[in-house]
Amino acid sequence: MSQTVRFAVSLDAKLLENFDTQRLKQGYETRSEAVRDLIRHKLISDNWAQHDAVMGTITLVYDHHATELPEKLTSIQHNYHAHILSTMHLHLDHHHCLEVIAVKGTGKDIQTLADKLISVKGVKHGKLTATAIGQDF
Ligand code: NI
Repeated sequence: MSQTVRFAVSLDAKLLENFDTQRLKQGYETRSEAVRDLIRHKLISDNWAQHDAVMGTITLVYDHHATELPEKLTSIQHNYHAHILSTMHLHLDHHHCLEVIAVKGTGKDIQTLADKLISVKGVKHGKLTATAIGQDF
């Protein structure tokens, strides 16, 4: 780990109060740890699509009764079989399925795969969560 540096931040008092309330609710005992995680999150979420190696999950919620929807999702996943590590399928209720797909690859490929899956008609909710691997955060 590299050297730790202290720096001062000027902030609106109300914003700081809201930040403290939120970080305590989340279990952060110190502002430093909460700010560190915010910065890491910002760096990763803004830049990970440019990284050579990322790992993460794509979460999808869809109605499995929608015409050819499960087949379309399966077909896309087979086109990216080398990027998919594992999938978990949960039956949410009579109509809906929740699918969690663990993925690994270049940031660009993983973003493309996520976009293709999430944009299929009938997918009601979709989210890609990924992190860069091989980075010293
Ligand atoms: Ni299901």
